Amino acid sequence: MNNPESFQLPQQLSANAANVDALYNFIYWFSVAFTALITGFMLYFIVKYRRRPGVKAQPTGHNTVLEVAWTVLPMVFIVVLFHLGFKEYVHNAVAAEGAMEVRVMAAKWKWDFGYPSGRIEPSELTLPVNKPVKFIISAEDVLHSFYVPGARMKKDAVPGMYTSMTFTPTHVGTMQIFCAEYCGTGHSAMLGTIKVVSNDEFEKFMKEGDNVEPTAEVGAKLYKKNACNTCHSTDGTKMPGPTWKGLIGRSETLSDGTTVVVDENYVKESIQKPNAKVVSGFQPVMPTFPNLTDKHIDAIIAYMKTLK
Ligand code: CUA
Repeated sequence: MNNPESFQLPQQLSANAANVDALYNFIYWFSVAFTALITGFMLYFIVKYRRRPGVKAQPTGHNTVLEVAWTVLPMVFIVVLFHLGFKEYVHNAVAAEGAMEVRVMAAKWKWDFGYPSGRIEPSELTLPVNKPVKFIISAEDVLHSFYVPGARMKKDAVPGMYTSMTFTPTHVGTMQIFCAEYCGTGHSAMLGTIKVVSNDEFEKFMKEGDNVEPTAEVGAKLYKKNACNTCHSTDGTKMPGPTWKGLIGRSETLSDGTTVVVDENYVKESIQKPNAKVVSGFQPVMPTFPNLTDKHIDAIIAYMKTLK
């Protein structure tokens, strides 16, 4: 267990990873061996049966034993490979009894995680070590894919339906999350982490909740944690959403032609109902942020005020 990363595979961080890797390595070396064998024979025959002056080509006759052998043997190999793969697939598709259910909500371009208590955390999912977890995955807008290489698991997040995936983290530390389905300009920045902690630490984490002080420092952290930075710059750079530089107090023209002066109320409305008043020239593509409470929004506004 917990093998260090190799040339081909990342570190094994879940209970199923060793089995998946064993299967992968078996198929890999099986393919390498047959590629070498077939290519070897091919090269040998090219030389052996090359055209030579004075030697006439002989037509090849029928050979029943050979023909049955090259049909039946590969079929046996394929059935064996299918059996091993299907067994592992089923083993990985069914969640263990009593698994903790976690909601995974994908949106352009962020991950939100919902705990059984109702608490929602953006970007970073905290999980207890050695406890099976069942992920219930959904997408708010377009197709995404929840990919955790350390667990050797990946599942599409599909708009309009739930998909699920399961694994047991076995290693205290962090696991990287990627989006593995192209979902627009922010796709490559759609990252997240799973923080695996001891059971005691997890209980502490769930009890603590998250205490938010409405300060600019907390707001700056929320800006990154909620992936606001994939669409809103803080230095005036043009991105899919309006820049936050000088936002508070700025006069903006909306898509319906009216103008607003950006104040606390406009920001709050825009976070809670992203597409209510869209600034002219921008697409109404901002996702919702169900995890952000009034306190979170106060902190974000405090941060915006520092961006002059
Ligand atoms: Cu979400 Cu790619």
